[in-house]
Amino acid sequence: MIHHHDILIIGGGLTGLRAALRISDAGLNGAVVSKVHPLRSHSVAAQGGMNASLGNVKGEDGATDSWESHAYDTIKGSDYLADQDVVERMCREAPTAVIELEHMGTVWSRLENGKIAQRPFGGAGFPRTCYAADRTGHNALHTLYEQVVSREIPVYEEFFAISLITEGGRCIGCTALEIMTGQVHGFLAKAVLMATGGFGRIFDKSTNALINTGDGQALALRAGALLKDMEFVQFHPTTLYGTNILISEGARGEGGILLNKNGERFMERYAPHSVDLAPRDVVARAIEQEIAGGRGYEGGYVHLDLRHLGAERITERLPGIRQIAMDFAGVDPIENPVPVQPGQHYSMGGIDADINGATKVPGLYAAGECSCLSVHGANRLGGNSLVETVVFGRLVAEKIVEDVENAPTPDDKLVKAAINSVNDRIEGILRREGGEHFFTVRDAMTHTMTSKFGIFREKQTMQEGLDEIKSKQDQVSRVSLQNKEREVNQALIRFLELEGMLLLAEAVARGALAREESRGSHTRTDYPERDDRNFLKHTLVGFRNETMYVSYQPATLGIFEPKERVY
Ligand code: FUM
Repeated sequence: MIHHHDILIIGGGLTGLRAALRISDAGLNGAVVSKVHPLRSHSVAAQGGMNASLGNVKGEDGATDSWESHAYDTIKGSDYLADQDVVERMCREAPTAVIELEHMGTVWSRLENGKIAQRPFGGAGFPRTCYAADRTGHNALHTLYEQVVSREIPVYEEFFAISLITEGGRCIGCTALEIMTGQVHGFLAKAVLMATGGFGRIFDKSTNALINTGDGQALALRAGALLKDMEFVQFHPTTLYGTNILISEGARGEGGILLNKNGERFMERYAPHSVDLAPRDVVARAIEQEIAGGRGYEGGYVHLDLRHLGAERITERLPGIRQIAMDFAGVDPIENPVPVQPGQHYSMGGIDADINGATKVPGLYAAGECSCLSVHGANRLGGNSLVETVVFGRLVAEKIVEDVENAPTPDDKLVKAAINSVNDRIEGILRREGGEHFFTVRDAMTHTMTSKFGIFREKQTMQEGLDEIKSKQDQVSRVSLQNKEREVNQALIRFLELEGMLLLAEAVARGALAREESRGSHTRTDYPERDDRNFLKHTLVGFRNETMYVSYQPATLGIFEPKERVY
């Protein structure tokens, strides 16, 4: 079956839905293709909040927040790798984005005076993070989805995008497998926006939903786009020991403190001014060092203590965190400290795109976590990803609306060939017999990524990791599936995801090996210093003759001169 739309959005999270609304405002026929129901997108799990310099809560010295302060904190937090023009755009637009959500119906938490509440977050000079208790993503996603439904914007839910279709180098649509029926559909459009989220599940200790397999990044890479800064992977300092479910930074924003097994508030040694609210790269490294130094608990964790906040504050501001700790660790934070350890949380890198979300492939755009515009550089500040989704969801859609005015209408011929080729590929996979179980390959890959490309990295182990990934790529081409059906074949979807995940794992590995410095989340024990002379630049990874190559592009500097980061 072939579907025609003006603009196709792949991904139904906050970015995709915000873009869909902007396209609908322009009177164009946009549609969303999503591998899950939009309300199951990972945006729904975002807890702590969305940064915007509303200035509703004053800073320590009575000063009022501004977009410039937001930009400064973001750029410093990024270890000066973020493109300063893109950061400026986000920080200027952030307050509008929050108010837009407010007008659409998001239930923000409130101050006594009725204004939207804002809490302190890591690396921020002001209490800047707007929140809806600890269920901010849930609130915002429901708001946008209601709007999408009320405008009757088409959503193809549980459709797994398998390939991008290009005509003369221009992206004109995609093929997607309807999971329920196993039928391959073709989608044609004048432009395609990738809004598919992160790739955290290439690691085995991750806060990410199981769906975060980086499908969009892999599709874009195969279609000729580049990936940028893939080596910068964020490890959130506080994930629940045992399951690695996120324990929001909002918990420390409300006053929670980290303690080692000796009961010491160890962050005082690593970040004397910001202490527990230093940026994530700093806190995650500190926890790892405490554990490595024998000051963590057996199994590898420290404590997050919230008890002094009291029952009322915990139940009002952190109800979800309390529930998660009780349900998954048997710990009530009102009574006992919560066991936490760092875990993969976010991908700073992604599809290389300019300030308007345009990739190197005409007609193909990217926004949100799957993209790298680059607003987070080498380390993202908490609360900046939610704001990025809605700011760039809208702005990139605006640019696409402008660009498609003169874009050619694609014709059906190519899409039929693309559908046939995908059907042949699927049949080939289903016919295969023997080989290793694909989950064995996937587990080995996630283990390699966590053990060899974690918080601390060095050449020899990373090289071993890259060799392991290459051998998994070879193995995966031989694995077979037990389920040979076309309908609701979840094994087939997991297998298709895995092929892409292995490509992204290789991109992370190649970027990390080539970056011989320590910057933000990328910490090399063999190159412990930041090296602005040689590495104040973005890593680009692409495919040439079926081989992955690495190149570089300068970071866009601006008014904030690179300095040593002190917190
Ligand atoms: O800790 C958190 O609530 C996560 C926020 C974020 O990743 O921005």
